[in-house]
Amino acid sequence: MLNGVFEAPAGQVEKFKYSKALKTAAEGGLVWDDTSLREFLKKPKAFMKGTKMSFAGLKKDKDLDAIIEFLKANSQ
Ligand code: HEM
Repeated sequence: MLNGVFEAPAGQVEKFKYSKALKTAAEGGLVWDDTSLREFLKKPKAFMKGTKMSFAGLKKDKDLDAIIEFLKANSQ
């Protein structure tokens, strides 16, 4: 559930089996803001070693802008 993820702490979906990597990041206080989402979505496996999000990432700034804009718009 990505609705409401913008500016929310990572790892909040109850019953979802997050990876150890994501749980550790969440315990460390990771919040999904403009900066962290941009870095994560550029290259998920580089930003969070061990994440089970099997997504290569987005190379174009324009695409990153668009997806972050969308997540923002769906978090009001
Ligand atoms: C542009 C597309 C995508 C966006 C914006 C996105 C965004 C995110 C975000 C923000 C999280 C962290 C959620 C949280 O902290 O609760 C996440 C986790 C995750 N996503 Fe994605 N995602 C995308 C594509 C995908 C795709 C294509 C897959 C699978 C084929 C996927 C599978 C997962 C999984 C399994 C996790 C949990 C990761 C873990 O526990 O390490 N995502 N995604």
